[in-house]
Amino acid sequence: MPDDYLKNDVAEIEEALRSLSVLSGKLLELAKAEGGGALSQSQQDLVPILAMIARDFEAQAPGRVVLSLPEREVNSFLDPDAFAILVRNLIENALKHGSRSEPVKINLNDNGVLRVCNGGARVPPEQLALLRNRFARAKTDAAGSGLGLAIADAIAKGAGMTLHLRSPATGRQDGFEAELNLACI
Ligand SMILES: Nc1ncnc2c1ncn2[C@@H]1O[C@H](COP(=O)(O)OP(=O)(O)OP(=O)(O)O)[C@@H](O)[C@H]1O
Ligand SMILES: [Mg+2]
Repeated sequence: MPDDYLKNDVAEIEEALRSLSVLSGKLLELAKAEGGGALSQSQQDLVPILAMIARDFEAQAPGRVVLSLPEREVNSFLDPDAFAILVRNLIENALKHGSRSEPVKINLNDNGVLRVCNGGARVPPEQLALLRNRFARAKTDAAGSGLGLAIADAIAKGAGMTLHLRSPATGRQDGFEAELNLACI
């Protein structure tokens, strides 16, 4: 039926536009991250920001986000907006590339070390080493353009921090883990 074909075409165009808009958003984030400026003038407590971001993801993926926060403040010179972009990319990755049947663990400890961990197939070392390059992707069923880790890495570098990527995740035989020390600057 012509009507059905039309509806299909419209849905496909809508989907293509959505992906283009996500892609251009990520390209802008990358350009900004690579331009530097990930440091702010004064230290800010990043705990409430992480709590808010985790709540947003929990609303989108109920039951899949396990958050553990420190008792005290984690003050950092990392710009709060840059931190939000970085951590959103890590959590988004863990939810979409990780095993659907396991929770994503987000842990910020008293020393300011942030870890985002998920289950799922191990990423081989030779692929892991390339993931922070723009447009690099390992085996995954999820959609994406390979920019999230390039953005996260550029923000971390711009603030003088090191983003560590591990697979398997610490203490496991599988999974993936991203780690960043927020209090090191
Ligand atoms: N938490 C994770 N668990 C397993 N694999 C991951 C994880 N994070 C990233 N990866 C692998 O690294 C690749 C690169 O991640 P990156 O965030 O740069 O791109 P993407 O998520 O594929 O796309 P985009 O972020 O642009 O939407 C992913 O395609 C996936 O193969
Ligand atoms: Mg991503």
